[in-house]
Amino acid sequence: MSESITIKSPREIERMRETCKITAAARSIGRQAVKDGMTTRQIDRAVHEFIVKSGAHPSCLGYEGFPAATCVSVNDEVIHGIPGKRIVRSGDIVSIDLCSDIHGFVGDCAGTYPVGEVSEEAKKLIEVTRQAFFEGIKFAKVGYRVHDIGEAVQDYVESHGFSVVRDYVGHGIGRGMHEAPEVPNYRPQRGYMPNPRLVKGMTICIEPMVCAGDYKVKVLRDGWTVVTADHSLAAHYENTILITDGEAEILTMAEDI
Ligand code: MF3
Ligand code: CO
Repeated sequence: MSESITIKSPREIERMRETCKITAAARSIGRQAVKDGMTTRQIDRAVHEFIVKSGAHPSCLGYEGFPAATCVSVNDEVIHGIPGKRIVRSGDIVSIDLCSDIHGFVGDCAGTYPVGEVSEEAKKLIEVTRQAFFEGIKFAKVGYRVHDIGEAVQDYVESHGFSVVRDYVGHGIGRGMHEAPEVPNYRPQRGYMPNPRLVKGMTICIEPMVCAGDYKVKVLRDGWTVVTADHSLAAHYENTILITDGEAEILTMAEDI
């Protein structure tokens, strides 16, 4: 993670828009591939091929040794699931997280999607996680600080009886996939994490990771897959956004967001 926050110039913002448009479209491809009988590797392949066909590069592939273009996480898997032979079935929920880069800038987004008919709890979890992003972005404006976003996310999620992950957070983004600042989905203890002011030209990822049960998570022995410690369901929703003079602009916007 680079040390200081980068403010993007108008030219850099244009490049961010371009890569984020591809990244958002790739998430839609992934969403369409979430069907009964698909393997997580097939979902990854569909997204990977789309990114390459669009002239971009799948930034997750090889990132700190990650072996695929996307993270595909099923049910109690929160983030960083490795695509493989696992077949998704009706009743499962599938989180897809992906990054792509073109002309030196990275876009990042994620979403959780149901396979066929899922439980009422799963439906509510997906919807609350997605809405938590929209609660957070209300504070992604000049005049607020980064932690105002996380407070709004946490309050919304907890008011629905769910919990937010503490061990992983959102982040700045630009030439690097992970730049300063860290963007927590909760209220950090005072003085525990820098809480910078939001400034026009910052690009950040807001990404609520929400558990149906307790927020504690653990990493599986594959070194990547993060699961809820109590094996309750988890969901993830993420967009790359731009801080402007007014409301934040969602750069990874697509029709079916
Ligand atoms: N897209 C993820 C994020 O929000 C990062 C994926 S980790 C990787 O930060 F190793 F797969 F790249
Ligand atoms: Co991210």
